[in-house]
Amino acid sequence: MTGGAGAGGTSRGFARGRRLRSTPALRRLTAQTRLAPADLVLPVFVKEGIDEPQPISSMPGVVQHTTESLRKAAHEAAEAGIGGLILFGIPSEKDAVGSQADAADGIVNVALQQLRADLGDELVLMADLCLCEYTDHGHCGLITPAKGGVRGQGGAVVVDNDPTLDRYAAVAIAQAQAGAHVIAPSGMMDGQVAAIRRALDGAAFQETPILAYAAKYASGFYGPFREAAEGAPQFGDRSTYQMDPPNADEALREVAQDLAEGADAVMVKPALPYLDIVARVADAVDVPVSAYQVSGEYAMLEAAAANGWVDRQRAVLETLTAIRRAGAGTVLTYWAVEAARWLR
Ligand code: PBG
Repeated sequence: MTGGAGAGGTSRGFARGRRLRSTPALRRLTAQTRLAPADLVLPVFVKEGIDEPQPISSMPGVVQHTTESLRKAAHEAAEAGIGGLILFGIPSEKDAVGSQADAADGIVNVALQQLRADLGDELVLMADLCLCEYTDHGHCGLITPAKGGVRGQGGAVVVDNDPTLDRYAAVAIAQAQAGAHVIAPSGMMDGQVAAIRRALDGAAFQETPILAYAAKYASGFYGPFREAAEGAPQFGDRSTYQMDPPNADEALREVAQDLAEGADAVMVKPALPYLDIVARVADAVDVPVSAYQVSGEYAMLEAAAANGWVDRQRAVLETLTAIRRAGAGTVLTYWAVEAARWLR
């Protein structure tokens, strides 16, 4: 726009951007991005065989729940008006194939059943679908000795893609049967969305949507989660299946592939260090986009706030707003319930 005293115009040769910033009401009216409780999803951990919730030292304020404390937390989450929960289970017994992930009496499936019975459809119940919390080796898939010439994790083994898909298919059915509204595969095996879609359809769960962790990076920001979910790899790391942080175009390929395989919605993870990816994915697709503000993002801000180095509430809301501004419709965040209360 040119000339006059209009929005950008001026009689003195410069624009007066301050006009629309001068009162809280004007700023509220002209805010381009809004953050609402319904945009937020709370990740929760439920652990088998404990009587009291267990604090997670690297995530102050976050606990490993008992089934009972989780039920209470879920009611509070519903009252706060958040969009949903995503569940992670920690079984007492782990084995090579992660049997407890699809056992009907496995901790996560029991918790899903209880929450669905308690809350019905009041909150969206998402099930994280992975094996790393359930395997004794801590990898997200089945492991197998490396074949000649293949240099695998730890030198001697590889995470074996295709046999893992059969496990994911079984876990998806178990989670849907337990009452999950949404299945969210996070293991980064190739073909996982197609395998899960086929399994769900074959078990009469055609209506159960898949939220694909489509662009999930091999990130140092998952550190505290591995204490929370007790799923640290016992050898090697996840770099042979999760995405390499320098890559951006590849995220668009992963997203396109997951959509072609039948994903209903896609996720980028972590969030704050990958806002460029969130923005590019949101531009590229016309399905709902989520971003996961992960454990390390939570821990670093909590640590700074505990030292008095940042204003906690202000910084938390700023990060959530930034993730929405980049293009994510939904934010998975450990601050979901607290932020929802601030926003009301
Ligand atoms: C399991 C999974 C992880 C997270 C979510 N699902 C850990 C990992 O991939 O190592 C991380 C969440 C967080 O850090 O908050 N595959």
